[in-house]
Amino acid sequence: MATSHAAPHAADPCAIVIFGASGDLTKRKLIPALYELYTRNQLPDGTFVVGTSRTAMSDEAFRETMHPWVKENAKGFDEGKWGAFARKLHYHAGDGATRELYATLTPRLATIAETFGCSKADGQPNVLYYLSVAPALYEPIIGAIGEAGIVAEGKRWCSLQPEQTAWQRIIVEKPFGNDLRSAKSLNMALGRVFEEDAIYRIDHYLGKELVQNLIVLRFANAIFEPLWNRNHVDHVQLTAAETLGVGSRAANFYDQAGAVRDMIQSHLLQVLALVAIEPPSVYDSNAIMREKIKLLNVTRPIPHEGIERHASLGRYGPGSGSEPAYVAEDGVDPSRGTETFGAMRVEFDNWRWAGVPFYLRSGKKMARKLTEVVVQFKRPPINVFERFGQPATDFAPNRLVINIAPTEGISLRVLGKVPGANFRIESAKLDLDYHKTFGGEPIEAYGPLILDAMRGDRTLYKHRDEVEGGWRLCQPIIESESLRRGIETYTPGSWGPPGSDAILAREGRSWHNPAQHETR
Ligand code: BG6
Repeated sequence: MATSHAAPHAADPCAIVIFGASGDLTKRKLIPALYELYTRNQLPDGTFVVGTSRTAMSDEAFRETMHPWVKENAKGFDEGKWGAFARKLHYHAGDGATRELYATLTPRLATIAETFGCSKADGQPNVLYYLSVAPALYEPIIGAIGEAGIVAEGKRWCSLQPEQTAWQRIIVEKPFGNDLRSAKSLNMALGRVFEEDAIYRIDHYLGKELVQNLIVLRFANAIFEPLWNRNHVDHVQLTAAETLGVGSRAANFYDQAGAVRDMIQSHLLQVLALVAIEPPSVYDSNAIMREKIKLLNVTRPIPHEGIERHASLGRYGPGSGSEPAYVAEDGVDPSRGTETFGAMRVEFDNWRWAGVPFYLRSGKKMARKLTEVVVQFKRPPINVFERFGQPATDFAPNRLVINIAPTEGISLRVLGKVPGANFRIESAKLDLDYHKTFGGEPIEAYGPLILDAMRGDRTLYKHRDEVEGGWRLCQPIIESESLRRGIETYTPGSWGPPGSDAILAREGRSWHNPAQHETR
């Protein structure tokens, strides 16, 4: 029987209030992403932006500050369209952690909304708050918004005409907490002010085309799902490698975070979840979140005893020339033992995946910029070609490589007979490049995600239980003194420290380290 499901909502026009308006993320990502939406006619008419931070600045000065950043970072920048977009940008100075700000900000939003024609019946526009500030300010700002009494989202559901009443939603940037305890505290602070449905915990990896495509690959095709389990999959690898070092981010953020918090707990676990979840009944936020939470609940806890078999930490050494080692970067405290590389082994105790290891790794200053998922299948049970002299170990196993960046595509390694009189078997790749095949222009991942929040669609956002589940899984690694003591130094431009290779080698496996010229 066919079931019908509601089509996605159109995005509502709203005021986007960005806390941390002078910060890096705002300049490099958020405003360029909004500009990209605007020039592609995707930003609903009437939408406007109000940046806020403590520095005094006029609207005009804010627009001028943003101009070069948008020019540099937005795809297809067109000077002719800048003026009209810039008129949407406003600035309101003040301290978001005090309720006084809202006494002036709220009437200002109402006035601007009137000129943009996006006020609701109560005179207020819909408001999307965006927390792009230092994490220490999250809870104070959320608390002040609550005290100011400007969040009425819950009441919307009781209103006779909900479409007439303005909504208030909040996007929260990562890092979402620093450990399980702080994540719980942040979730509680948010929950006191906003309904869970109005909270958008953003992860820009979920805005990447190929991450969404994972769901399509798995559930729009019938051929993969029957193989996607312990009967056929030997193991799965996830890699997010970067070539750049930490540089100036060390002092104010990175040295207190490290690769496990910065990349694995957040981005990689989200990708992992989409690779491993059960089929959702429908592609919507509730169904997908439910499956992700179910999966995180069956991760096997990482034991403190013998943790080196399950995780490895590293930090980059000095590069050729004058490139400093991580420990010599400005603002790094070497005694903290912060890692710029992390690897871990995850297992799920469920019917589908019992006994199949998932290996995750992420690092700075590695051999190449690469984000990929590798699903390695089991070998055939016997080698029927033995009499031709090639041992089965010569045959590369079937391997599906899903390349998320830099070239979005998938490849499947299969074995074939080399044409000719001799019976020789070799491995070859079937390759699909998404852009060459489908065309289309990739845009900054933040844009579509912000648009989803304006639509009220949380499919590509994280539920509180997912965030807490992720921390629970990584907590033993983060707090392991023996891992910190044993932190290894790796050569910049390599694939990480020996401890990471050893996790797989102990189990007779090795990482997929594509050569420079190989796309996948
Ligand atoms: C961010 C991390 O969330 O993701 C950075 O804080 C990292 O350390 C970045 O460099 C990587 O994103 P991408 O999209 O370039 O893979």
